[in-house]
Amino acid sequence: MLTERVKEIFQEIEQFEVATKEQLEQYRQRFVGRKGVVEALFEGLKDIAKEERRAVGQELNALKNFAIDRFAVIQAEFEANDSGSSGPSVDLTLPVVPNQLGSIHPLTLARAKIIEIFERMGFSVADGPEIESDWYNFTALNFPENHPAREMQDTFFVAKNAEDPTQDMLLRTHTSNVQIRMMERQKPPIRAIMPGRVYRNEAISARAHCFFHQVEGLYIDKNVSFKDLKDTLYHFSKEMFDKDVKIRLRPSFFPFTEPSAEIDIWLGTDTEETYRLSKGTGWVEIAGSGMVDPNVLANCGIDPEEYTGFAFGMGIERIAQLRYGVRDLRLYSENDVRFLRQFEGV
Ligand code: PHE
Repeated sequence: MLTERVKEIFQEIEQFEVATKEQLEQYRQRFVGRKGVVEALFEGLKDIAKEERRAVGQELNALKNFAIDRFAVIQAEFEANDSGSSGPSVDLTLPVVPNQLGSIHPLTLARAKIIEIFERMGFSVADGPEIESDWYNFTALNFPENHPAREMQDTFFVAKNAEDPTQDMLLRTHTSNVQIRMMERQKPPIRAIMPGRVYRNEAISARAHCFFHQVEGLYIDKNVSFKDLKDTLYHFSKEMFDKDVKIRLRPSFFPFTEPSAEIDIWLGTDTEETYRLSKGTGWVEIAGSGMVDPNVLANCGIDPEEYTGFAFGMGIERIAQLRYGVRDLRLYSENDVRFLRQFEGV
């Protein structure tokens, strides 16, 4: 019953003609005012069975909003016409408001620079999904279920798969999933970088966030050696930071590379900033890297006897921090224009 009435009123509102101020006032009283027909329907709500009240209440609210929105539109038209008859409301002699251009986000700037450097070395750019299966994010990369290395990359699970845990869906913890996807698709030689957003289940602070950005690199061919890895990353560091940059490779562990190394660059400890960033050692880590583990190649149908390769992964936030002196990770995603405007000149 009530629903019928709601329909009727919807129609009535649509057809109600408002050509004069008086008609506008009539519209207001009938559909928007406290004593109008819409308000009256709300009165009827209390007689409705409890189970239906919620649904009917929603209908009534929709009707009420419809009536109000329409009123606002018509009223605005009246006002616009009114000012029209009493001369222009715009002072055409006023100077224009300057058109403010936005600026490029520091992460975009850093990413563009990274891509530019690697493109010059013959790397192409590849992309992959952020919502990923366990297989591509972990298992194919040699992190079997319950492997302790998963501990460092706790993430957000989107859907569990009861039959096959390698088909659990999650937010990727690194861009290394694209490594696997590329190797499955494409026969070597492969030379690509893969920028993208990644997620981790971390408490948010100045130094950690639940999402950040990485660029992964992958080079697979015959006779690719550790020396190629070192040269590539050294060249990158020179281009990115300074031609006299010093780098060091520090032994490390990743399940999908063997041997593995962390790449550090030398900042020194001369200033408070570099002391703090390097925790007093003078060195700061910019990337993880290593020779792609033969198991990983085999997982992707590439013969590890024939091909070798290296991979590396770096955080874009860290590179931007070193280039632009951004101290707090949270600034990157807060969208505070006072922060963003500082990159106008870059
Ligand atoms: N995926 C690693 C991480 O996110 C980084 C990495 C990439 C290390 C490629 C080695 C090779 O920590």
